[in-house]
Amino acid sequence: MAVRLFEARQHVEFYQKYRFSPAENLQRVIFSYLEEKKLAPTRLAVDVGCGSGQSTRILAARFEEVVGTDISEAQIQAAKEAASFPNVSYRVCPAEELPFEDGSVDLVTAFAAAHWFDIPRFMKEVDRVLRPHGCMALSTYFPNFSVHYKDCSERLTEILTETQDLLFEYADEKVNRVIGEYKEVFDLSPFQDKRRVTQIIDKIPMSVAEVIGFLQSMSMYQTFLRSDPEAAKSLLQKTEERFLETMGVGSKETQVEIWVPCVCVLGCKGP
Ligand SMILES: C[S@@+](CC[C@H](N)C(=O)[O-])C[C@H]1O[C@@H](n2cnc3c(N)ncnc32)[C@H](O)[C@@H]1O
Repeated sequence: MAVRLFEARQHVEFYQKYRFSPAENLQRVIFSYLEEKKLAPTRLAVDVGCGSGQSTRILAARFEEVVGTDISEAQIQAAKEAASFPNVSYRVCPAEELPFEDGSVDLVTAFAAAHWFDIPRFMKEVDRVLRPHGCMALSTYFPNFSVHYKDCSERLTEILTETQDLLFEYADEKVNRVIGEYKEVFDLSPFQDKRRVTQIIDKIPMSVAEVIGFLQSMSMYQTFLRSDPEAAKSLLQKTEERFLETMGVGSKETQVEIWVPCVCVLGCKGP
């Protein structure tokens, strides 16, 4: 059964506000793979589990048409309301039943989403909708990112790790696929021509408030919030206070840099 953890209105708002799109290094891994595989034509890309569309939009300049799909109506509504490009559209549907004809799609992507799917059924759908020599790129970032600011990066990262250790108690078991660096996703890929790229690290500037917002957008935090609202809110408030105290600043708008490790499973369908 599909896991429906991203649909409360406030959760969708956090998503729209605090989730970042794939940054430079992850994009480079994906797009250089498409170049290596000489992906052409580039008529249609489908981004599955697109959430509020922040990752879908990075495909707009390279494909004639981009369709973001998600099982959540609330996420798709938020995606439609966000600023976008004329060749990008969105549809509500499960990853395991994609509304595209056999052999009609040039690229299927999923950013921070494939671990939530029924992977064997999803892979069957990818294989069905991709045209010969079409490509697949399934990526995610890990929750164990580090926080960098002047000479206190080590301490800030320790504080973040302590907070995340508590949040992990509320993680769905599917998060284990992320912890396992998408090995299971790779193993279940039906393509002979496949590759798993690990240790991609992107450096993303954020304010302290945005780091806290990002934590709030995580499904495990939302589960904690439903189970014990006071403890959940207090954890993030204390985390923010500890960050600011360690940095010796008063404003939560102070900029830090987070270093986010990512993994990407790539595949190319045969003739
Ligand atoms: C962590 S979010 C990632 C959103 C976006 N791709 C991004 O880069 O931030 C995971 C998304 O997958 C969607 N999702 C989970 N299970 C799904 C399924 N079986 N079919 C389609 N979408 C699904 C959720 O609704 C959610 O929007």
